[in-house]
Amino acid sequence: MGSNSFPSPMNRRLLSASFALALASVAQGQTVSTAPTLAAPGQPQRTGIPGGFEIIGESLVSAQQLFLGTEDKVYFVDKVEANPTQINGHPVWASEWALASNKQRGMEAITNSFCAGGNVLGNGTWLNVGGNQAVQWGGEPASAQDGSVGPYFNADGRTSIRMLDHCDEGDCEWYLSPVPSEQRWYPTLETLQDGSIIILGGCRNGGYVNDRFQDNPSYQFFPPRGNGESIPSPILQSTLPANLYPLTWLLPSGGLLIQSNWATVVLDLATNTEKALDNIPDAVRVYPASAGTLMLPLTPANNYTATVLFCGGSNIKTDQWLAPDFHPPTYPASASCVKLTPDVSGSYQNEDPLPEARVMVSLIQLPDGKVLALNGGGLGTAGYGNNTWAIGHSYGDRPVLQPVIYDPAAPTGSKWSIDGLSASLVPRMYHSSAVLLPDGSVLVSGSNPNPDYTVGPDVTYPTEYRTEIWYPSWYKERRPQPKGLLSQYSYGGPKFDIVLDSDDLAGDVENVKKVVVSIIRPGFSTHNMNMGQRFVQLDSSYTAYADNNTAVVHVSQLPPNPAILAPGPALVFVTVNGIPSVGKMVMVGSGQIAEQPILPVEALAPAEIVPKTAGSGGSSGGGENAAVGGVRISGSLVALLSFLVSVFVFGS
Ligand SMILES: *[C@@H]1O[C@H](CO)[C@@H](O)[C@H](O)[C@H]1NC(C)=O
Ligand SMILES: *[C@@H]1O[C@H](CO)[C@@H](O)[C@H](O)[C@H]1NC(C)=O
Ligand SMILES: *[C@@H]1O[C@H](CO)[C@@H](O)[C@H](O)[C@H]1NC(C)=O
Ligand SMILES: *[C@@H]1O[C@H](CO)[C@@H](O)[C@H](O)[C@H]1NC(C)=O
Repeated sequence: MGSNSFPSPMNRRLLSASFALALASVAQGQTVSTAPTLAAPGQPQRTGIPGGFEIIGESLVSAQQLFLGTEDKVYFVDKVEANPTQINGHPVWASEWALASNKQRGMEAITNSFCAGGNVLGNGTWLNVGGNQAVQWGGEPASAQDGSVGPYFNADGRTSIRMLDHCDEGDCEWYLSPVPSEQRWYPTLETLQDGSIIILGGCRNGGYVNDRFQDNPSYQFFPPRGNGESIPSPILQSTLPANLYPLTWLLPSGGLLIQSNWATVVLDLATNTEKALDNIPDAVRVYPASAGTLMLPLTPANNYTATVLFCGGSNIKTDQWLAPDFHPPTYPASASCVKLTPDVSGSYQNEDPLPEARVMVSLIQLPDGKVLALNGGGLGTAGYGNNTWAIGHSYGDRPVLQPVIYDPAAPTGSKWSIDGLSASLVPRMYHSSAVLLPDGSVLVSGSNPNPDYTVGPDVTYPTEYRTEIWYPSWYKERRPQPKGLLSQYSYGGPKFDIVLDSDDLAGDVENVKKVVVSIIRPGFSTHNMNMGQRFVQLDSSYTAYADNNTAVVHVSQLPPNPAILAPGPALVFVTVNGIPSVGKMVMVGSGQIAEQPILPVEALAPAEIVPKTAGSGGSSGGGENAAVGGVRISGSLVALLSFLVSVFVFGS
């Protein structure tokens, strides 16, 4: 439980007592060395058209769930259904896509992973939790639950914790944790400060929305904490029927933001108490209204203060979901965007609305600090059924094919842009997903609002295997190739240097002022949420040389607070003047599920451009690095604050 007791990062009750203590510890020779460095990332390899989509093949299973496991491997997890590819004498419902070779292999997912949740542990092992009972044709219950009967030979997945270790050899497989979960369909998973995972909510048997007979309004942990029993959650208890896949983020304060139906709370895991924030305006954002949601970049400029963005969804009243006259496919989606900065205020603020109303929209964090919105439709909701008013089985309609980009740094009124972006080739309705790839493109797949594998000329929204790559506008620009990135990042600790050459700075030393070093966790994509998705900018300064347009960028480790980015694998990028390097997969934290070491932050040298020696009027002067958004504060102030903070955490 130690992981729950991290002090608020900037809590400074302290300074007097712990200051001396910490200095003493440092003086006693706390020697900390940085992790091994990585080879410089190269250039992207694909040939698609920037701003457009390209179909790269057909997936073996429908991409109900999707995540990037290594730099090369994307994992797909589907529900049990009649996918034509077979494995072990039954249809496959999980697979691995190797990006470089564009080859796929089926994987045995063991139990029915229908509407499971997922996330990655601090030691790099992925979890996939919950699911449905064993099924047969059409998603109907199978006559046995132990995997022994056809046609699908699947076992009950409702209490399964499926695990997949980090592996790039193309031969790793899912295995079951011997410790089961409680019965949960549509749970949310969020990784915590010690690299363990909280598993929240869900229902016991499934359905379009939840009801009190099968609700599981509680949370539990993996690895289990205490006696392993789950803990009741008042917000989940009070937000039926739209309390499935609760929208959940670990906040830098250490609290857990939970948004469910119209309600919002911050959960304090040290006391298991919830603090109510305002209701969310305009629209329901959780499944099945399925808005796009994302924590905006955490940066030195915003002092690592979290703001969460919610866009789209549907204004459906609590008693409307199950009303006989509610026919989702004709019900208009919402264009509303709102944002919340929960560690500062419990009130939502309006944000520029989406250009088009949208449900089932995914927000994908790009390494240039912007956010891609794609997938979904303009009418209806997530979910499917055999209703006469459904479109086939789909509860959603009118696909929105146009992607749109949000720039958190743009002025109000112009945050959304479709400039240079062409439409997707494929409607992406219920059960579609998307994830950022290391080269900055986005893999988009899925769409299957059907009880089983369903294709044919008469099917409006078939089981969709066509898999696309979306290319950012800068895809084919020459990417920076930073030398000296680390393979592992600590919370506080020694700074490190990366080297950018003249090509990396596009021949202009002034571009060093626009260098952003960031760590992105792309997350586990399902139901238009990317559980765990997050962007954290590392603090940095530089010594650059006008003589030869090169720079040494001085970079801090992560801030001394694992609630800013929980331990586990993530991608590191170096972006110069808006052009990101190819990302490298690295480990955040100790690589262990354990309370994370918190180290003093080493101050960075002031930013400096060394002028041309020949006196030919080269540029000079310092300055802060470009921030992704928000106001600038001086590099040295950040360094000082970080130092004070680390002193407290380290010395307490
Ligand atoms: C950064 O945030 C902390 C609270 O987390 C606050 O105490 C501090 O004053 C902030 N610093 C700046 C420069 O805004
Ligand atoms: C990660 O931790 C979990 C829980 O303790 C364990 O089951 C799993 O084997 C670990 N993974 C690795 C790669 O050590
Ligand atoms: C729903 O439709 C599917 C496919 O058409 C069918 O197999 C299934 O039996 C139906 N379920 C119910 C409950 O009617
Ligand atoms: C660039 O110039 C600086 C200062 O003259 C020098 O220290 C550095 O080694 C040079 N870098 C390269 C790559 O030539």
